[in-house]
Amino acid sequence: MRIAMIGTGYVGLVSGACFADFGHEVACVDKDHAKIAALRAGQMPIFEPGLDEMVARNVRERRLSFSTDLPPAVRNAEVVFVAVGTPARRGDGHADLSFVYDAAREIAQAADGGCVIVTKSTVPVGTGDEIENIVRAARPAAKFSVVSNPEFLREGAAITDFKRPDRIVIGADDEQARAIMREVYRPLYLNAPPILFTDRRTAELIKYAANAFLATKITFINEIADLCEAVGADVQEVARGIGLDNRIGSKFLHAGPGYGGSCFPKDTLALIKTAQEADAPINIVETVISVNDARKKALARRVIDACGHSVEGKTVAVLGLTFKPNTDDMREAPSLVLIPGLQASGAVVHAHDPQGMKHAKPMLPGTRFFETPYEAAEGADALVIVTEWDAYRALDLERIKQSLKSPVVVDLRNIYRPEEMADKGFRYTSIGRPPAKS
Ligand SMILES: NC(=O)c1ccc[n+]([C@@H]2O[C@H](COP(=O)([O-])OP(=O)(O)OC[C@H]3O[C@@H](n4cnc5c(N)ncnc54)[C@H](O)[C@@H]3O)[C@@H](O)[C@H]2O)c1
Repeated sequence: MRIAMIGTGYVGLVSGACFADFGHEVACVDKDHAKIAALRAGQMPIFEPGLDEMVARNVRERRLSFSTDLPPAVRNAEVVFVAVGTPARRGDGHADLSFVYDAAREIAQAADGGCVIVTKSTVPVGTGDEIENIVRAARPAAKFSVVSNPEFLREGAAITDFKRPDRIVIGADDEQARAIMREVYRPLYLNAPPILFTDRRTAELIKYAANAFLATKITFINEIADLCEAVGADVQEVARGIGLDNRIGSKFLHAGPGYGGSCFPKDTLALIKTAQEADAPINIVETVISVNDARKKALARRVIDACGHSVEGKTVAVLGLTFKPNTDDMREAPSLVLIPGLQASGAVVHAHDPQGMKHAKPMLPGTRFFETPYEAAEGADALVIVTEWDAYRALDLERIKQSLKSPVVVDLRNIYRPEEMADKGFRYTSIGRPPAKS
């Protein structure tokens, strides 16, 4: 099939490249000239494992192309995906739909023969209706359908998630559009992922409900971790003890610094706005948002306490800046709250991240960046692990100890064992676990 992908960010680029890998002919379009020029030169605008190789292969085999010119891509396509950003609107937290509606207007101008327009961007309930109004107003005679096909891929595992999804959700109100969407995903039939056909509004809501549920699960275990600290229990054992219950499941039960990233913060906000306006407030998600915000703000205090209740004039080495491993995405990362908090209390911050430093540098003024975790630790009064990159799981702890001025480690991801760290002579604190017994 011939597909146009409007927006070549994380979702558009990964989806476009995977569809091309399935054998479809995909034209990826973006307004960002620098991004398209880089892609044409074979450079990836994002770090995502396996993506560069897959893009190169599909470009070489002429199934994948990149352009800033939307009309020819749309005119040639049977299916047009919209994968532009839907950030939180400044001030009120609603999803900013201006990119989606601009794209809809441009598609309407270009699509003279009609097509299926598919929203992959995460959009509030009713956005598909509005897109339909926009296109119908511009092209009253054209034959087209508007479909919702929310994306559930995770950054860092995006290709696997796209090619082996737990489910595919398609919200379409007519049979012809459903048939075309079946064709789009036909190459996946071998893996037999469940395809859930719903009406459009339901599909739009499924995406928000999924993200809000996951954000709630994370926040739940984070609060249980705080309780564990207060009463001397171990959150990892609690997580295991509840996660083995099939009704609960073990995923998303890792206590940590609070969720961040490109989706959960903005999607939870957008959901509560939709719910408030519909006069059906979702109190649990409102609470999750405020608990998570407070948690991130309290991170600096945790580190300060571990440093003897003051970091004035001290150096703190921070390992891991991105909101999770295997991505260079810094959006809403806990490090963006922690580091300024430490600096405001008088600390000098050294930082390292395997992939995120390029994006982090302009966002974290005053921070000193280092090429290796060991260089970052050199002369520091404490080491804080913020993101659980594999590269931090097997640090040479003797070398780290020798590099640090004092052996203080704050592990916000629980990647080390308290006993092991105590044996090695560290003053180690983690999340929701009792200190090693001496
Ligand atoms: N990042 C994720 O992990 C993820 C996962 C699932 C769903 N989503 C959703 O997918 C959508 C896209 O997210 P993202 O992280 O890929 O965003 P992104 O910011 O990385 O990319 C969006 C791209 O769209 C381009 N764009 C904007 N308007 C355009 C237009 N009119 N024509 C052409 N290009 C245009 C921008 O230049 C940008 O490159 C969002 O709604 C997001 O919530 C994201």
